[in-house]
Amino acid sequence: MNFDFALPAATENGSLRPLQPSVFNQPDRPTPPADGLVYPLPSVVQRLRLEQLFAMPQPLEVELGCGDASFLVEYARRNPANNCIGVERLLGRLQKLDRKGRRAALQNLRGLRIESAYFLQYLLPAHSVQALHIYFPDPWPKKKHRRHRLINEAFPALASAALAPGGQVFLRTDDADYFQQMNEVFDAAKAFEKIATRAALAEIVTDFERDFNAQGIPTLRVAYQLKGRMKNAE
Ligand SMILES: C[S@@+](CC[C@H](N)C(=O)[O-])C[C@H]1O[C@@H](n2cnc3c(N)ncnc32)[C@H](O)[C@@H]1O
Repeated sequence: MNFDFALPAATENGSLRPLQPSVFNQPDRPTPPADGLVYPLPSVVQRLRLEQLFAMPQPLEVELGCGDASFLVEYARRNPANNCIGVERLLGRLQKLDRKGRRAALQNLRGLRIESAYFLQYLLPAHSVQALHIYFPDPWPKKKHRRHRLINEAFPALASAALAPGGQVFLRTDDADYFQQMNEVFDAAKAFEKIATRAALAEIVTDFERDFNAQGIPTLRVAYQLKGRMKNAE
């Protein structure tokens, strides 16, 4: 299913007007930042064409569950030579990414409204991502709900299919049980090895992290890299 037609859009007074020509019918043009940083997915069954999202072909980093996006906006600001995608299911949070990113005039940031695991498995082009950031994913603390956790036995294989050679996965949580699970599933995955998180990355805190740390709850942090390739995470 590929939506290459213009859907009507509601105006402020509620009437409908056709969308202006956009990525729906100009597949090779990046969305200009003036249109907003939340990218309207043209298809949920075909993989993303990254050249439609970003004007510059640069290494890609993705935050799954970016929330209010304070981390990703600051990270994108400090790393203009990388492209950054924030994935989030709640529109209100993506609108914050949009506001903050536009205020900072970022050309290298986009937000996508989609479920994280689906995005990773079905929409990201294979071996396209330099780093995955997953910070304070919902911990699902009740035992019977743990199957809903994003980081589970299946996750390392999905991550390695999306990551470029030498690609990295950065994880943070406040939840000791989830932290243990993160370590276990990645330690068991032969394709990955544990690395240190570089200080310049660890010092950029997320919204949830700031709140937890203010309550005296420390950040549990771990990172992994695809084995056998260049790059030192320090
Ligand atoms: C606990 S918050 C952490 C937000 C941010 N990473 C931070 O550290 O401030 C988890 C975020 O992930 C989003 N989220 C949870 N499950 C998701 C999923 N399956 N797909 C996409 N977003 C999801 C939630 O809406 C929420 O914004």
